[in-house]
Formats: sequence, C-alpha cells, structure tokens
Amino acid sequence: MFASFATWLPHVGVAKLKSRNTKVLRTKTCGELNASHVGQTETLAGWVDKYRDHGGVVFIDLRDRYGITQISFKLDTSSDIQELAQSLRYEDVVQVTGTVVSRGEGNINPKLPTGEIEVAAASAKLLNKSRTPPFEPRGETLPNEELRLQYRFIDLRRPPLQRNMMIRHKLTKAVRDYFDGLEFLEIETPILGRSTPEGARDYLVPSRVHEGSFYALPQSPQLFKQILMVAGYDRYYQIARCFRDEDLRADRQPEFTQIDVEMAFVELEDILSTIDGLVSAMHESVRGKPLPTPLPRYTHAEVMEKYGTDKPDLRFELPISNISDLVADSDFGVFKNTVADGNFVRGLCIKEAADKYSRRVLDNDLKGLVGTYGAKGLAYFKVTDGKLDSSIAKFFNDEQQQAIIERMSGEDGDLLVFVADTWSVSCAALAALRNFLGKDLELYDPTEINCLWVLDFPLVTWNEDENRYDAEHHPFCAVHPDDVGYFESDPGKIRAQSYDLVCNGYEAASGSIRIHDPATQQKIFDLLNITPEDAEERFGFLLNALRYGAPPHGGIALGLDRWVMMFTGGENIRDVIAFPKTQRASDLMLGAPSEVDKRQLRDLHIKLDLPEQS
Ligand code: AMO
Ligand code: AMP
Repeated sequence: MFASFATWLPHVGVAKLKSRNTKVLRTKTCGELNASHVGQTETLAGWVDKYRDHGGVVFIDLRDRYGITQISFKLDTSSDIQELAQSLRYEDVVQVTGTVVSRGEGNINPKLPTGEIEVAAASAKLLNKSRTPPFEPRGETLPNEELRLQYRFIDLRRPPLQRNMMIRHKLTKAVRDYFDGLEFLEIETPILGRSTPEGARDYLVPSRVHEGSFYALPQSPQLFKQILMVAGYDRYYQIARCFRDEDLRADRQPEFTQIDVEMAFVELEDILSTIDGLVSAMHESVRGKPLPTPLPRYTHAEVMEKYGTDKPDLRFELPISNISDLVADSDFGVFKNTVADGNFVRGLCIKEAADKYSRRVLDNDLKGLVGTYGAKGLAYFKVTDGKLDSSIAKFFNDEQQQAIIERMSGEDGDLLVFVADTWSVSCAALAALRNFLGKDLELYDPTEINCLWVLDFPLVTWNEDENRYDAEHHPFCAVHPDDVGYFESDPGKIRAQSYDLVCNGYEAASGSIRIHDPATQQKIFDLLNITPEDAEERFGFLLNALRYGAPPHGGIALGLDRWVMMFTGGENIRDVIAFPKTQRASDLMLGAPSEVDKRQLRDLHIKLDLPEQS
C-alpha cells in the first residue's frame, strides 16, 4: 500500500547522521552508505533485521530508522567474530565496523538505497541480545493489533510506523514554522482544569487537597484561548493535547492532539485564509509542493443537498440528485407515498456501473448498507436504450423515465439507485453508499489530499429526547449577521459563523467566530436553556473576562492526528500515534487504566462502590 506513496517519501526521511554524535558507537546510519563510500571504513549500529548463513559467509541486514545495510561476515576471519556472526538472531543489537565494498553486478538490490554496497565486517560487538520477538518488524504478515500494541516498542520499529512518526514530526514542525512566521505565539494552557463545553464526557482527576472536588482534563483549550484574546495575545496557537471520554472509532482517540488557533481583531475571512496557508504549508512539508489555495468553500446546506453529509469526500464527484418532484405522481407506491408524506426520493447515478453489481449484491449488500442508516430499501434501475430498466420501471411512464434520466444526467450503461425516506435518513444512507462506491469502484486517487471548507452550519440543532436546542458546535459561536431576526421566530434557521475544514471525508478542523459581547452570549444561553446561574457556574470565568474589554475574535482547531493519518494514507488513527489506546481506551503496553492502592484512594477521599465480582 505504501508503494504508491513513494513519490513523496524523499521529503520525509533524512538518511544522514547529521549530528553532534560523538561517532564512537557509529559513524554512519544504516540508510546512508552508497557506492560513493566504497573503500571507506565505517561503523554502523542497529538491529538485526534478517540473517542468512551461506556456509562461508553470514549476511546480516542491519536496520535503524534510517534504513537497512547489508553486512557480510566472512567465516574465515577471527573465530570471535565468526561465533558472533553465527549467533545473531532477530532484533539483536549489534555494532559492526568494516569496509564498504561494492556488491558487484548480480547482487545489487535496486529496492534499497544502500543496495549497491555492503559492509564487510572486520569487527563486531553484540550490544544487546534480544529475546525472540513476538513478531518481526519486517515480517510479511502483521500479527493482530492487540499484540502489536502490547509490544509497541517492537511495533514502532516497523518502517511504516517509523515513517508515520517522521511525517508527524514534519507536519508539526511545519505548523510551528508557519505560525512563527506570522507572529503567532505558542502558549500552553493547563491540563488540570475544569470542564469545557465540547460536549463529550470529561476525564476527571480527584483533588487530594479539596476533598470531594475534581479537576477535568481539557476537552480542548477553548475557554483559555478566548481568555488569551481578552488578555491581548491576539495571535495564539498551541499543539494541544485534548482528552475526551467518548466512544472511540477508527478516527477517534480518547487523548488526541489539536492544532489549536485563536485570533483577535479578525473576521471569518481572516481565519479561513490563515488556515488555507497553513494547510498548504503542511502539504508542502510532506508532499514537497503547496496545495493550491484558496481551498474551495461550500455552505452546509449545499453539501447536505449534494453529498448528504457535512464531511463529503470530494476526491470524487458522484453527487446526490433529488427526484421527489418527478415521482410524486408515479405509480410506484413507495416513492409516491414518501413524497406525499413530505419526505424525499434522492439517489445517485453511478457511471458505467449497470453491470458492476449483481441483483444479489444490490438487494443484499448495498440495501443492507443503506439499511444500517435507517433506509427501508434501495430502488435501482439500469439505463438501457435511453430508458429505465428494472423490475419496478413499469411504474414510471415514459415521460417520468425521461425526466428522471435527465435529472440524474444518466446515460446508457449507468446504474441509478434511490432511497425514499426522510431528509436525514436519505442523507445518511446515500452519503454512506457514496463513500462505499467511491472506494469500491476506485473513483479516486488514494494519495490525493482534497480539502474543502463547509460554512454556515446551523447554530443549534433540535434535541428530540431532551426537547430543547443543543449548540451544534459550542455555545460561543457568533451568529450569522443576516439571521439575528430568527432568534424569536425560528431559531433552527439561525446560521452560525462557524466552519469546518473537511479533508478526504474526515472532519479535519472546526471553528467559529466567537461572541464577544455578554448580551448576545446571554441570548444564546437562553436559547440553549442554560440559566444565568448555570452559565456562571460552568463558564463564569469566561463570561467575566468578556466584560473587561474583549476584542472581536475567532479561531479553529485542527485534529493533528487526523491530518497525519491522511498524509500517511492510513485509515487508523492508532497508526500515527506512538502510544495509542485501544477501542476500549486501554493502553495494552502500560496496562492502563489500572487499579490503585487503597492508600491512594484514601488520600483522595474516594470509596469505590463496585458491583460484586461474580
Ligand atoms: P472540535 O471539538 O470540533 O472543536 O475539535 C476540533 C478537531 O479535533 C479533532 N478531533 C479529534 N481527533 C481525534 N480524536 C478525537 N476524539 C477528536 N475529537 C476531535 C477533529 C476536530 O475537527 N474548541 C473547538 C475548536 C474551536 O472552536 O476553535 C474544538 O475543540 O479533527
Ligand atoms: P417492495 O415494494 O418493498 O418489494 O420494494 C420494491 C423495491 O423498492 C425494492 O428494490 C426495494 O428495495 C425498494 N424499496 C423499498 N422501500 C424503499 C425505500 N424506502 N427507498 C428506496 N427503495 C425502496
């Protein structure tokens, strides 16, 4: 999989030991030697990646994070080194000194940067013997992730993970350089704090000194960064660790890193263009060329209509079309009744796919997929001879068929699929189907980085269960100036001055212009049913600060881990974090979380009330 990323790898790794290294234990790295070094005596140190005993000569592949160098041990030299060479096994740590020699025509390995040479060992030293590792870093097959996480120190020796860590480093450095160039200050904010309003469950830390009180680990530095604006630090950023006790997925970790940004005396446009520049610089740092900017912008309403999701993957087009008006009078009951109920018939035109999926796949797999998002069925047609072709085509007259084909931009050989349901079910089902098809039909280049802004999110969403409005982002988002009138008449219509940056189908950043006057802030709290006492209790320190000269301000936070994941071409956030947690929020190497001493609990005034162990 990583082969296709080879073109931009040169921008990531550095083979040379550019160092203040004393050069006692090694003079070169395992990725550094080539034909130009032939004849030199060099010392390398690293791990045994492979060993082969060819009778008269033992070959060792020596590995460090810079690469691999082949070492040859002639077995007619001193008996010490012969004994050592034959005893070497996977992951032993050795130091070898020898002459760089050319491998000769037939033995060159073009796949390795060091493939033209080998080091003929004159002396060698076992620096440390390894136990037989539970798996080999360069083994053909990967063991299950649990074992990898338990032995993370071995897993981290794997070249793909080492590359991920290098990309992470590169990106982080590019971020710091970019902001530094724009006079931003990196300011740290507390880890022991109190609950912030991001909406996930907090990780709590009991206080020993304040009996019965708890700190909360920050879900983000949101309140602090706004306070920094009030305090006059008009350009702030931080590579900030955030903690959220939420259900984990492939793109979520309980502790993750944000590139957190806040700016004062700005409007929305300033933030978008600053982040355009940042993303372009990040792209350049890893891929060697900037991303063209400005990044495209869409409204929330637009992407929901066209792609069914607020985080569309626009590496491929495949838009959703709405045919509700065309089928309201058809004879197909499912469609007709759906429209009569005020709901929608929407679908996708899958180009040249008429014969790609069998009826069985359509009726089972694809219908099953949309079913998991609540859709009750999946209607489908082929376009053949300019007409709809399927068991339900007979329910649509010629005129309706023509209109549907035209609306969908259908052509002979295309496959049209439809979901008839509520707006939200049709959005969710078709967005998921669209993502599946994009991948399954290989509609995009997986190495591409495709970004877009989604603007004008609704300020609030209606919470059916609790019978109240919830903040879509958080309660400090400024209101779209054109929508202030909706506060009384129709709060659901108010747009926030908020924005998401979407990359390859992931929510990669999110932010807003903030409210900076207490009266508007109070209006929002009223709308969200947050009483003044409640607001004072939860965010009193921010509200207080806003009363003492708060400048207009706004900001954003980028999910660093997700960006690294996209730049590495991966789909598992754990592969870009050195020591990640499992889906169940455990660290298998540390064995965390763990029980603690009774005494520690006593100091913290905590009594456990656990269910009886059966
Ligand atoms: P938000 O909660 O949207 O906004 O978070 C910002 C970005 O952080 C990333 N992210 C995560 N990454 C990995 N694991 C997680 N559990 C996780 N949760 C979020 C996402 C997301 O877009 N304070 C606001 C920002 C602001 O308004 O300035 C905030 O935290 O990429
Ligand atoms: P039925 O009338 O239930 O036999 O369905 C006929 C076809 O319409 C089948 O292909 C179903 O999958 C499809 N279908 C049923 N309900 C829906 C719906 N809500 N949206 C889209 N297609 C549907």
